[in-house]
Amino acid sequence: METLILKLSSGLEYIADICADVLINSGIVIFPTETVYGIGAHAFRKDAVEKIFKIKGRKRDNPLIFHVSNYDMIYSLADVSGRVKKIIEEFMPGPLTVVLKSRISKEFTFGLETIALRMPDNLVALKIIEKLSFPVVAPSANISGSPSGTDFSHVFEDFNGKVDVIINGGKTVFGIESTVIDMTTEPFSLLRPGAVSKEELEEKGVNVVFPETEDLLKRSPGTRYRHYAPNALVVPVNTESELHEKMKDYRGKKVAFIGLNPVKSIFFKEVIFHNVAEYGRLLYATLRYLDAVSVDVIFAFLPEKTGIGLAICDRLKRASER
Ligand code: TXA
Ligand code: MG
Repeated sequence: METLILKLSSGLEYIADICADVLINSGIVIFPTETVYGIGAHAFRKDAVEKIFKIKGRKRDNPLIFHVSNYDMIYSLADVSGRVKKIIEEFMPGPLTVVLKSRISKEFTFGLETIALRMPDNLVALKIIEKLSFPVVAPSANISGSPSGTDFSHVFEDFNGKVDVIINGGKTVFGIESTVIDMTTEPFSLLRPGAVSKEELEEKGVNVVFPETEDLLKRSPGTRYRHYAPNALVVPVNTESELHEKMKDYRGKKVAFIGLNPVKSIFFKEVIFHNVAEYGRLLYATLRYLDAVSVDVIFAFLPEKTGIGLAICDRLKRASER
């Protein structure tokens, strides 16, 4: 298949018209969002949705997020109480995904009673969905299990020739996926930490708790699988002495280090981020780069589990599972 590459300089209207047409006809479009790139399809066309699972190699029991462009779309797809409405209007558009009780047939919600909804804070993404009379289901644009695409070059490498359109939207803003909260539970559950921090939610009066592991696996199928992992082995560490201890197991290997502060040791590659926001923004790009230079082991110094740091720790932990 020949993939059409669209540049932002072609103009928003032009891009959106082409992508809307492709999606209406069950085609697949890769588009930028403020978090990571998404690989999108018509939410109500079985043939289109099926293509996403095939192209990504994604497990069929892992449901997709419905991307919308306005509040009314949300209210037609899910049951929304007054309280939830306020939260939605506070955080959307933005990197928060909410799981609500669905109002549509289970045929389209991957057999679930619930539906995950997100309004991306990205002009191109919003403009495309605005042109449509249906939501766009879109997982992160990456081969299942690998780091998500956060730059055009990533999605081009993984999907050129496999999808109808790729929009070149440059680098994404956050570089880490949206925060997923389940609002069907009381209190709300944090299914996936992400670009909106727990503290930012709490500041607006939204309290979320971590579900018990077993419960989480049941309610957030995506968390069942190893994820976000490069080919290299990822070894998260909390302290410099832990790092030195663990390094002994990998003598003779091509070893890399990533973190917020340099440590006293010699590495084949070393990536030091200026701050935790940059750690998040460049994490996946860095994992991809270290694969490209054939590193065997990546030691990742974990940031504090506050703000975006919580999501970074979550991704590193899951990338390290074998
Ligand atoms: O930032 C993002 O959220 C990106 C961009 C493209 O929007 N999308 C993304 O999608 O990360 P994906 O498919 O990689 O992750 C979606 C997560 C999965 O863990 C999935 O299991 C969960 O959301 N999910 C989807 N629908 C759900 C539902 N009804 N109940 C619980 N979890 C759900
Ligand atoms: Mg994903």
